[in-house]
Amino acid sequence: MLKEAHQAPTVEIFDPIFEKNQVRLFIKREDLLHPDISGNKWRKLKYNLKEANRRGEKTLLTFGGAYSNHIYAVAAAGKESGFKTIGIIRGEEHLPLNPTLKFAKNCDMELHYLSRGDYRKKHIPKFIEQLHDKFGDFYLIPEGGTNNFAIKGCTEIVDEIPIAFDVICSACGTGGTLAGLIAGLNGEKKVIGFSALKGDFLRGEVEKLLTGYNKKIYKNWTINSDFHFGGYAKVKPELILFIHTFVDKHQIPLDPIYTGKMFYGIYELIKSGYFKEGSRIVALHTGGLQGNEGMKEKLGIGN
Ligand SMILES: Cc1ncc(COP(=O)(O)O)c(C=O)c1O
Repeated sequence: MLKEAHQAPTVEIFDPIFEKNQVRLFIKREDLLHPDISGNKWRKLKYNLKEANRRGEKTLLTFGGAYSNHIYAVAAAGKESGFKTIGIIRGEEHLPLNPTLKFAKNCDMELHYLSRGDYRKKHIPKFIEQLHDKFGDFYLIPEGGTNNFAIKGCTEIVDEIPIAFDVICSACGTGGTLAGLIAGLNGEKKVIGFSALKGDFLRGEVEKLLTGYNKKIYKNWTINSDFHFGGYAKVKPELILFIHTFVDKHQIPLDPIYTGKMFYGIYELIKSGYFKEGSRIVALHTGGLQGNEGMKEKLGIGN
């Protein structure tokens, strides 16, 4: 099981555009939950590790890209909780290892690489069987950590927000975190997901996740796909500038893949008058800062 997490305080930030548009913006600092299993990763792994324990499994196996926050977190969680970990990494091995994979290896994660073609088979039962033939017993955690146990973990976030609010915002990849927030709020308030990926498929994914979780249909949520900046892990100079300015002003670090895009989107929506006057908005800081290390050179960011 995961050790108890640190506090993830909810803090208010200030900016003249909030005043002008009569809204208040708060950040739930989930990035502070744990030094290595931060943000939504801690939430997603909490009940998965309990379940792995209950089943008597000794090994966790999961999937991810070479810079994956999820791979990093599973490696750390395995180390902390006494599980062996196996990471199936998309693409070829590149040496020297990047900071994410170097960390995973230092946590004793066993790394195996799959061609992009084979990696796409990761949902197919026959392929999972082959992985069992190769690695023996393991508890499988899907890519991004999203399953019903993860959603349950994410429902708990909303109970830990100690202030009154109207809207909660989160960055979205698989949609698991958003599904947890929606289920946790159970029809109350409003939930906005900011997609880190190009395309409009996420709404359907989140609906599927919610159906699989509690079969309920909620109407108080939406996904905004206007701030992906070209797609997953793609960036533009205005995003990098926004992140630099935000960090300088608020001393709260962001990453360019998830939280940077979400905050950019929130600011744009505030400026456009999207939120009703008097709205109290909570933005979830889902962590992901480990990836900045690997992007530092490429993007000139990360502190
Ligand atoms: C830092 C960070 N924020 C947000 C997300 C999106 O979470 P989800 O996959 O649950 O939509 C991820 C992805 O896994 C992430 O690493």
